[in-house]
Amino acid sequence: MQKRKLGKSGLEVSAIGLGCMGLNYHRGPAPDRKEMIALVRAAVERGVTFFDTAEVYGPFTNEELVGEALASVKKGIVIATKFGFDLGPGGTGAPNSRPERIRQVAEDSLKRLRVEAVDLFYQHRVDPNVPIEDVAGAVKELIAQGKVRHFGLSEAGASTILRAHAVQPVTAVQSEYSLWWREPEAEVLPACDELGIGFVPFSPLGRGFLTGKMDETTTFGGNDNRTTLPRFTPEALKANQPLVHLLEDIGRKKKATPAQIALAWLLAQKPWIVPIPGTTKLHRLDENIGAAAIELTEQDLRAIAEAVSKISVLGDRYPATQAGMTGR
Ligand SMILES: NC(=O)c1ccc[n+]([C@@H]2O[C@H](COP(=O)([O-])OP(=O)(O)OC[C@H]3O[C@@H](n4cnc5c(N)ncnc54)[C@H](OP(=O)(O)O)[C@@H]3O)[C@@H](O)[C@H]2O)c1
Repeated sequence: MQKRKLGKSGLEVSAIGLGCMGLNYHRGPAPDRKEMIALVRAAVERGVTFFDTAEVYGPFTNEELVGEALASVKKGIVIATKFGFDLGPGGTGAPNSRPERIRQVAEDSLKRLRVEAVDLFYQHRVDPNVPIEDVAGAVKELIAQGKVRHFGLSEAGASTILRAHAVQPVTAVQSEYSLWWREPEAEVLPACDELGIGFVPFSPLGRGFLTGKMDETTTFGGNDNRTTLPRFTPEALKANQPLVHLLEDIGRKKKATPAQIALAWLLAQKPWIVPIPGTTKLHRLDENIGAAAIELTEQDLRAIAEAVSKISVLGDRYPATQAGMTGR
């Protein structure tokens, strides 16, 4: 698979990474753990070098799974993880990016991931109670100590990115971005462009919706957080099908699936964008990786832009309780 550089940092990763959250968290009943470890290793065999996890996934068990899966294949592999919640003993789960907590998460993540340094350490959500300069300063110290290699932010607003970058250069911003959530285009992508920061779109397949495999009869089980998201009510799943039809139309022309067009569209936006689709299935891993080989021409992109501008998406991406935690 082709490689991409995350901004000016020089951090090189496969053009498409693997989002590991759904291997055991927030995407329904967890599949067999051994099979998920095998899936991560299959991704490595196929040239994927960029793996995304977080302390809060599980919590802890997703990092453990990723650490075990990649224990024997560290060379050239980049593992990204995230801090930012109060998950220590007796923790409330609320945002917590106080420097002492960041330092503790780093120590614990190193053990769970079985690595000497965390390749990319993102703040998962901006903590309104801790100045971003203090967060960046704490990560800067961890970098100086060799415990962390690169600093990232997730769902931060442009002014926060700027302030953080002034203290410790940010390698990557990770936020939701896809054909049905394009808010980063307004301020965050221009800020990344100006500062030379890479951008990692999460939920690049619209949490599965953009693949065309969902309709109003789709249900979500177990710990699947889509049960709480306004875009996944039967009404929204039905109303938003025109977006899928558009991807199917383009896919027919390019001999590609809707999922592949959704990913190829992201790759075509900027050379420093690296999406991290998640899947628990080998054949879908192959399908998603295949998107790196699909080139959308200027004409394709114009046609997509025009068609999308006529479609309005029903349903917020997050319920009100979570929406306030993004874009700060
Ligand atoms: N920073 C943050 O706050 C944040 C938030 C959310 C996610 N993330 C990261 O982003 C990663 C991906 O996000 P996500 O899981 O929310 O969304 P996604 O990658 O857009 O979609 C994943 C869903 O789509 C399905 N899927 C994947 N490929 C498919 C294909 N080719 N055809 C049909 N269905 C397909 C998967 O089901 P199957 O398993 O059945 O294939 C899964 O339910 C996560 O793993 C996580 O690492 C970060």
